[in-house]
Amino acid sequence: MTHSIFPCSRQAHGARYEIDTDAARLDLAVIHRFLAASHWASGIPLPVLERAIARSLAFGLYRDGNQVGFARVVTDYATFAYLADVFVLPEERGKGLGRWLVETILAHPELQGLRRWLLGTRDAQGLYERCGFRVPAPPFAFMERLDVGAYERTPPARRRQRLLGAARVSY
Ligand SMILES: CC(C)(COP(=O)(O)OP(=O)(O)OC[C@H]1O[C@@H](n2cnc3c(N)ncnc32)[C@H](O)[C@@H]1OP(=O)(O)O)[C@@H](O)C(=O)NCCC(=O)NCCS
Repeated sequence: MTHSIFPCSRQAHGARYEIDTDAARLDLAVIHRFLAASHWASGIPLPVLERAIARSLAFGLYRDGNQVGFARVVTDYATFAYLADVFVLPEERGKGLGRWLVETILAHPELQGLRRWLLGTRDAQGLYERCGFRVPAPPFAFMERLDVGAYERTPPARRRQRLLGAARVSY
């Protein structure tokens, strides 16, 4: 599915900033470099990231055409959405871009009427609170099933293809 919410741009700090959902425009090298070094997606292999992006609604943030931020949404487009991998490159932080990115995502026409948005964050609660997110009220709590070593065990793409092929034959 291809989505586009052009135009979403603004002029600020002597530059033109844009947000869109054009997957072909994403600079995977920039996104992978940031996420592979992040605390939540540390070491994510490029093929895994590519697959995640291909199956999400991904948003790029650009300064004069260059990727300076990113986020993606995992959703059923009906009831629920998970906001993931939000970042603004360090040199562009503190200019309101993170908030603009999150608010633009929340306003996307195909993401309206959802009952629940979720996200996980270690220290950016302030940003998300400004965008309407709250810590779930007790006694409600979320649970997770986390495999911290998953990315180290990801087989190289070629081997994975063979494994998938073998699995298809045997079923
Ligand atoms: C979190 C992040 C996306 C914020 O981007 P940004 O462009 O600097 O944010 P903004 O300038 O739009 O800030 C918007 C508001 O959120 C607040 N805010 C921003 N980052 C914050 C943080 N880490 N903790 C608490 N509040 C934060 C700002 O103080 C600002 O408040 P204001 O509206 O009262 O001025 C950016 O710092 C980042 O990429 N961090 C590293 C990656 C990360 O932690 N991502 C979140 C993972 S869920």
